[in-house]
Amino acid sequence: MAKETGLDAFEKVFEEEKVVDTSKKVKIGIIGTGWIAESHIVQYLKMEDVEVVAMADIVPGKAAKFAEKYGVENCRIYNSDEELLAAEKDLDGVSICTYNSQHAPCAIRALDAGVNVMLEKPFTGTLEEAIETMKAEKRSGKILTIGFQPRMSANMQMIKKIVESGELGKIYYLQAGGGRRRGIPTPFGTTFIEKETGVIGAVGDIGAYSLDMLLNAVGYPKPLTVSGYTSAFFGTNPGYYPTHPEYAEKFGVDDFAAAFVRLENDIILDFRISWAMNMDTSGDALILGTEGGLKIPSTNCWNGSFDKPLTVYKTVGGDREVEYTIPMIKDDGDFFYKKIRSFVDAIKEGGKATVPSSEIIYNQAIINGIITSAELGKEIEIEIPEV
Ligand SMILES: NC(=O)c1ccc[n+]([C@@H]2O[C@H](COP(=O)([O-])OP(=O)(O)OC[C@H]3O[C@@H](n4cnc5c(N)ncnc54)[C@H](O)[C@@H]3O)[C@@H](O)[C@H]2O)c1
Repeated sequence: MAKETGLDAFEKVFEEEKVVDTSKKVKIGIIGTGWIAESHIVQYLKMEDVEVVAMADIVPGKAAKFAEKYGVENCRIYNSDEELLAAEKDLDGVSICTYNSQHAPCAIRALDAGVNVMLEKPFTGTLEEAIETMKAEKRSGKILTIGFQPRMSANMQMIKKIVESGELGKIYYLQAGGGRRRGIPTPFGTTFIEKETGVIGAVGDIGAYSLDMLLNAVGYPKPLTVSGYTSAFFGTNPGYYPTHPEYAEKFGVDDFAAAFVRLENDIILDFRISWAMNMDTSGDALILGTEGGLKIPSTNCWNGSFDKPLTVYKTVGGDREVEYTIPMIKDDGDFFYKKIRSFVDAIKEGGKATVPSSEIIYNQAIINGIITSAELGKEIEIEIPEV
């Protein structure tokens, strides 16, 4: 990889073009052809060594319309993941793009059918489902990777590099930030907000990204205890949806969450996330270490970017307090391509999951721990069964 520093605020990173072997095409199926499936299909269609051979959706006609919209020729259409897996014996991988409640059932069936899985985030709806999915991953020996595209951003990767370099010393405190003032995701219906389909709300949707950004940076320490709070003051208010007041009745998840989480290695996580609140942001994210602190500008989480540089705070020469910013890297925002490409490469090269279940199980345990603790109204211990 060659590097060049420009005079503008960005540093450009050049990646060497990989020569793609197109002699054997990777055969892919797409399960669930809703909103996020679009970001999967457009990436697969860019790849000369990939063939999207099958699609399934339980809504009759939806997958066929989807295939037609994207001009996917010779693609076989099915009415469920089960039908697709029963008929397609030659698949290399599937993208599972169903709503949260169907993540685990679809992933387990695909893994048991011997198919590699790219599973959309969050991992699952419940911790128990995540454990069952990991068991299926283990018995299948196949790849299971979770769809956190911010992991592919060079700026996000810089957070982890700074921590790993030792620049901040021993890390003892993490503070999550960001969140939305008004942003309950209902542009394409109510699958995010109904309990039956979404299972978990803001905490599992953008909260999962916020957790991943911080926990990945510090090596995914195991969560030990959590004291959580959730609320749903906005989602359950008909006035929130001027054109769809009936959505308030359907709202069955959280739209705000806060928590205090103890992690192994004596690290404390102070967490908050929001789909809706009377505030512009819950602040920047912070990583505090004995030798330095890192401020990560408030981010919208999902798109993998922040629009201002990271800042490091240190003391030098014994008593001089200094701070410096890290020039941002122009990485073209092509996180979705890199996410899908890394899955295809892992299939082709017999590689590993880019975002492995062994890490995201801790993310899921915190999410479900927050919800359980909030329901019980007290701190709980997080217990994660062995797989
Ligand atoms: N990575 C990202 O940036 C990002 C962005 C949006 C959504 N997501 C995630 O993607 C997932 C889907 O979100 P969405 O907005 O596309 O939801 P959606 O409701 O628009 O689409 C889900 C589709 O899955 C289908 N489905 C459900 N069960 C199925 C089954 N067993 N077999 C076949 N099809 C089935 C539904 O009929 C629906 O068409 C969610 O888990 C969400 O968290 C990720």
